[in-house]
Amino acid sequence: MVTLAERWDLRPEHFWMRDRQPEKPVETDENGVLNVYGYAENLAVFADPKTYSSDVTRFFLGDTETDDSFNEGTLLQADPPEHTKLRKLISRSFTAKMVTGLEPRIESITREILDAADVDGRGGLDLVAELTYPMPVIVIAELLGVPSSDRELFRGWVDRMTDSATALASDEQSADAEEPDSQAAMRHVPEMLEYLHEHVAERRRKPREDLLSALIASEVDGKRLSDAAVVNFANELLVVGHATTSALLGNTVLCLDSHPEELARVREHPETAAAVVEEALRFMSPIAASYRVTTAATQLGGVEVGADQLVALWLGAANRDPGQFPDPHRFDPTRDPNPHLAFGRGIHFCLGAPLARLEGRLGLNILLERFPKLRTDPDSAPVFWELPHVIATSRLPLRVD
Ligand code: HEM
Repeated sequence: MVTLAERWDLRPEHFWMRDRQPEKPVETDENGVLNVYGYAENLAVFADPKTYSSDVTRFFLGDTETDDSFNEGTLLQADPPEHTKLRKLISRSFTAKMVTGLEPRIESITREILDAADVDGRGGLDLVAELTYPMPVIVIAELLGVPSSDRELFRGWVDRMTDSATALASDEQSADAEEPDSQAAMRHVPEMLEYLHEHVAERRRKPREDLLSALIASEVDGKRLSDAAVVNFANELLVVGHATTSALLGNTVLCLDSHPEELARVREHPETAAAVVEEALRFMSPIAASYRVTTAATQLGGVEVGADQLVALWLGAANRDPGQFPDPHRFDPTRDPNPHLAFGRGIHFCLGAPLARLEGRLGLNILLERFPKLRTDPDSAPVFWELPHVIATSRLPLRVD
């Protein structure tokens, strides 16, 4: 059987997508990067944030651009004890309950976007431009409390931010770097930060029922978040929650497109959509890799590791480890349990996982309900982001006729 990777010509680094196993679970490459492919080895790194720091900024940005005030409030690159405090503060406001409450809004936003796209008249759509890209931005804007009249403004900024991230990625790729810095991309949209600052100031005066107000009010050990921290976190939500969610829905559609029997099954049993999304997260993980840097010499999977070493956690490969997943190259939504690492593990486990899962399930069900026929366009192949650490489409033309 032709794999999805062969069919769509995915990057060679993503070898697991061609149903191949890594030669070794842990291996240092010619650039000195420690590549971690095994499931157990990934877990070991996630469980030891003291040895494996998340503060990888200097590897990607160099010393010159590091600016602590810019990072204040962002979780991804923080280490304990700062991370512990910040995560406690933020998770008090960004709760699963808050996310569940969004379900009817996400449904109506998704339907509204599809209505506006007028797909039926054309017999097809670009799923990314016309649904999976706008939808998470609008949802996050709504969650934060951005008025809907400002949605387009907000969307314009996020588009520019994404364009900058792509530009940065291609510059860095030519310089052999591994990851674009999405925070650097955000510096291209100072208006958005300013806008968020104004809203934070306004919520301090007059709190509302939204995430910005909740973030301002949350308190741990008598400490609250500064305005800068609230703005940076809001910003982080957009940076990390946007492209990933878009990828999740697109990848789920691609998995189903390559597995027509599973597509038929979920059409018949819409209640299995959550399990389909879960298996798509494992089988075609949007974040292919996450990064760490060692703070001391250590050992991993029998390999000696030096201090100050860049570590690439290949979540996508770990999610195909036969030691953890029987028949790992089979797309099987009935897999139970399905302890994939697509959202990471441990102290940095994705804070947006409940939201991503909800958007994935609702988005998939609405698409299937709305389009009795849905397939990739035989005349126009999907286009993937040219980034080693993500597997996501930037264009996904679909036919519905
Ligand atoms: C962290 C994946 C959606 C917010 C992470 C991490 C992964 C991940 C792998 C851990 C990174 C690490 O340990 O280095 C994903 C995927 C998503 C998704 C695959 C969609 C399918 C979202 C959404 C949001 C979000 C929708 C918010 C709206 C976050 C935040 C963190 C995080 C704030 C940092 C948590 C911390 O460092 O404590 N995500 N994510 N993510 N994610 Fe997501």
